[in-house]
Amino acid sequence: MTPEDIELFSKIVKERSGLVVTPNKAYLLESRLLPVARRHGLNDLEALAATTRSGSPEAILEDITEAMTTNETFFFRDIGPFDRFRDSVLPPLLQRRAASKTLRIWCAAASTGQEPYSLSIILMEMASQLAGWKVEIIGTDISNEALNKAKAGLYSQFEVQRGLPIQTLLKYFTQEDANWLISENIRKMVSYRHFNLLDDFNKLGRFDIVFCRNVLIYFEQSDKTQILDRVCKQMSPDGSLFLGGAETVIGVTDKFKQVPDLRGVYSPT
Ligand SMILES: C[S@@+](CC[C@H](N)C(=O)[O-])C[C@H]1O[C@@H](n2cnc3c(N)ncnc32)[C@H](O)[C@@H]1O
Repeated sequence: MTPEDIELFSKIVKERSGLVVTPNKAYLLESRLLPVARRHGLNDLEALAATTRSGSPEAILEDITEAMTTNETFFFRDIGPFDRFRDSVLPPLLQRRAASKTLRIWCAAASTGQEPYSLSIILMEMASQLAGWKVEIIGTDISNEALNKAKAGLYSQFEVQRGLPIQTLLKYFTQEDANWLISENIRKMVSYRHFNLLDDFNKLGRFDIVFCRNVLIYFEQSDKTQILDRVCKQMSPDGSLFLGGAETVIGVTDKFKQVPDLRGVYSPT
């Protein structure tokens, strides 16, 4: 691939998703975009670049962008945030919502569903406490492929072994040949939508809890700032934002502050 082609593909990905393809990740363009070229009947990346330069169809640009997303995730990833959600954030929030009995949760980079389903499992374990409540979990992602897998709720042995205690696996999944299917009651707690974090958030409504984990690490500073500022506008003033272990609001936005003693949890200022 020529430096011009690398620049072209990186620019498309950045403009359409915010994801920055750093020069040391340029090799990823090669391995991930060759299948895109082939899918569209093109022999190699030079042909893909030429098609793109001559004004490629939307489907190709979408596929290029999607191919450059990193969908790495697993159940109860990093465990701490899920413990803090269940033990520290949820109890006082439920008290404050006792009259309305509604709770809205947004997983803003849901990938293949393990994060929203981990939250559903926690909430299902509290079912008696939540009887009569309207709890919504909305999982969004830019990757249609990831979302299709999330909606199917079917995971490999390897995927369920990452983060799921065996008793949780047996309680909420059934084995289907070599794979595991998440139970209907967990699956229907989450609704999935294709959504780009660069787009307008207004149509999503207001949330009490936002999980926006392990996605902003791939964005440049100004995009992180404007995304977090817009996330804040969608949140209840007493809501909580969860970021990934390598992410922070410090030096990025003054719309959120770290909740004391709750690592990775932030509240609107
Ligand atoms: C590494 S995964 C994180 C999944 C999960 N939040 C976790 O922490 O395990 C990052 C996800 O962000 C999604 N993503 C990247 N850019 C996006 C954008 N502009 N809008 C929405 N989702 C995006 C990717 O498709 C990918 O599924």
